[in-house]
Amino acid sequence: MKNLVWLFIPALLSVIAIAAEPPQQAAVDYPAWAYPKADATPPAGAEASGPVKVPGSAKSYTQKEIDDLANPPDWFPDEHGTAPQIVRSGASDKGFACGSCHLFAGYGHPESANLVGLSADFIVEQMADFKSGDRIDPARMNAISQATSDDDAKAAADYFSSLKPTVWVKVMEADMVPKSWVNAARMRLPLPGGGMEPLGNRIIELPQDPALATARDPKSGFIAYVPPGSVAKGEMLASTGGGKTISCTVCHGDGLKGFGNIPELAGQHPIYIARQLYNFKAGTSKSAAAQQMQNVVANLTPDDILALAAYAASQAP
Ligand code: HEC
Ligand code: HEC
Repeated sequence: MKNLVWLFIPALLSVIAIAAEPPQQAAVDYPAWAYPKADATPPAGAEASGPVKVPGSAKSYTQKEIDDLANPPDWFPDEHGTAPQIVRSGASDKGFACGSCHLFAGYGHPESANLVGLSADFIVEQMADFKSGDRIDPARMNAISQATSDDDAKAAADYFSSLKPTVWVKVMEADMVPKSWVNAARMRLPLPGGGMEPLGNRIIELPQDPALATARDPKSGFIAYVPPGSVAKGEMLASTGGGKTISCTVCHGDGLKGFGNIPELAGQHPIYIARQLYNFKAGTSKSAAAQQMQNVVANLTPDDILALAAYAASQAP
């Protein structure tokens, strides 16, 4: 199956090369909802204090311990295999434990990414691309990959690729969404005072339980609010290409589950998917593999990107 699909790709790419303009290096309008930035002033009532616990775990940590990038909380140590040092405590002198932002279960938060469901080869490749600058994430992964040896990147990749994904993001179509703010760790949380606002043409991802998300509980996931009709529109584009791109399933596989060096999209955070589509469009992801995606995104509009992200996230991983 794998080999068969690859046989068709060169032919498809030449079709697209004729149909599509070369990717624009020009300025791309990055939507604020896909690239969360910390709010300057936290709202009143947002500070947590005292020891933190999560349901089903006997452990207890303070918020300061939870936020320690060199020794993140491992709420359910019996539920995963032995985590290598790079995942538990990061590179010996630098920290950046992968288990902090990506949790020991391999899920990330919307501002980062899920690693569970990706192949070890793909994770190793992305670490190399972040390191060389062929892929950019100036806020986090560029520095982290530079502090990570190739052996450690491989150990982390072997660990995360051995985990099994389950549904972590629930996609809901809605006109209205809880008002929210973004904390210092770039985590979007509902405003303590409550209230709703129109969703408009955005995707807003919020934790199912804000306290458990800030505790980095690997069992409490996220809700992604997406505009009505976006999932069906995304499904059409993903399966047919809608006359402006190639069907995503040709490369990412049935159900967008990915294989080999082509990543799984199903169940990934939709704002992460949108970020990557914008990065491909801007040409800031520029490895040979990423160039395949530059052709794919060349003619996609912001609405198409939103719809594809909503659809892919709604699929079972
Ligand atoms: C301080 C938080 C943080 C830590 C620690 C961290 N990451 Fe990340 N990681 C991120 C963010 C943020 C992104 C999303 C980047 C983007 O949006 O392009 C990411 C994305 C990734 C991706 C891309 C996934 C994909 O689907 O392409 C990989 C692979 C990855 N991280 C591996 C690691 C490994 C391995 C470690 C440990 C050495 C690690 N990360 C530690 C924040 C972190
Ligand atoms: C010609 C094959 C091909 C097609 C068609 C294709 N992709 Fe991709 N896609 C890739 C490859 C290869 C990568 C890995 C790029 C890299 O390593 O940087 C990728 C990466 C991605 C990523 C980044 C995921 C991550 O975890 O970092 C997203 C998002 C994505 N594709 C979405 C789509 C969507 C949506 C479509 C359909 C509109 C699509 N792709 C069609 C080959 C393809």
